[in-house]
Amino acid sequence: MSVRHTINAAVNKGLRPTGFQLVRGHSADPAISAFLPAKRIVKQAGRAGQSVGDYLDSYSAEPGATAETVEAMLELSGLTTAERVCEIGPGSGRYSTRILSALRPTSYEVYETAPDWIAYLRQELPSLVFRPTDGKTLGSTPSASVDLVHTHKLLSYIPFVTALGYLDEMARVVRSGGTVASLEFGLPPAPLPRAAWELYTGIGLPVAGLAIGKGWHEVGGFLRGSIRDFYARLPLDRQLALWREAGVDDIRVRRLSLGGGIVIWGRRE
Ligand SMILES: C[S@@+](CC[C@H](N)C(=O)[O-])C[C@H]1O[C@@H](n2cnc3c(N)ncnc32)[C@H](O)[C@@H]1O
Repeated sequence: MSVRHTINAAVNKGLRPTGFQLVRGHSADPAISAFLPAKRIVKQAGRAGQSVGDYLDSYSAEPGATAETVEAMLELSGLTTAERVCEIGPGSGRYSTRILSALRPTSYEVYETAPDWIAYLRQELPSLVFRPTDGKTLGSTPSASVDLVHTHKLLSYIPFVTALGYLDEMARVVRSGGTVASLEFGLPPAPLPRAAWELYTGIGLPVAGLAIGKGWHEVGGFLRGSIRDFYARLPLDRQLALWREAGVDDIRVRRLSLGGGIVIWGRRE
């Protein structure tokens, strides 16, 4: 590890509880997974003439996936309005934007670890409340205080122990009768879509990554391993059991598109 990297990591670690990061770059904290660089993605989206959300959808070969997910979440939950919403790892805010306009909450708090995406979100979605983020807990959110807590494509991509902790935290912060929802990368169960998934994550993503930049290449490279690893340790039925153990009831699951994404939704007892 270089001296610069060590200093960056130390400064960021000290600042993290405040919710600010002075030094750009990826964290050395094992609980925090690096994400795509905001600057590059925003630039690529501009060149493609798309919003950042649409660009991310089409890049991951899932045009319309964000809208499909949010529609499924809202339909499954029956939510038409919410006072208080909490989201973990919003990244570009592509889900936040849609939830904000569908539910018009009075408070929408986020826990995000990437300094460049935090800066982007502060500019694009100034109504968001940025909570100090330690990468493991929802420490600034009181128990039983939110109507909806949700996260997208985070739990299967961060370290397993961190994901388990977040599940407990999500169940803690939601009020009784409130909604807990997550969209995860899925492993398509049927042979043909599964073969397509293997091809896409094994060849398509890494090659596309090489073409457009280091960030995508890294993501294409590690995503496949981390998703497989997550499902090997925590198959879907075990995941659902953990949600129930955490106090989430009436759980429903919907596979999206070819099964590459799974929406899990439940209600707090
Ligand atoms: C795979 S991205 C998904 C982003 C967004 N939810 C979406 O689907 O477009 C995961 C996001 O979570 C953030 N993240 C990584 N580790 C985290 C952690 N331990 N706690 C909170 N956010 C984290 C990343 O910076 C990134 O923005």
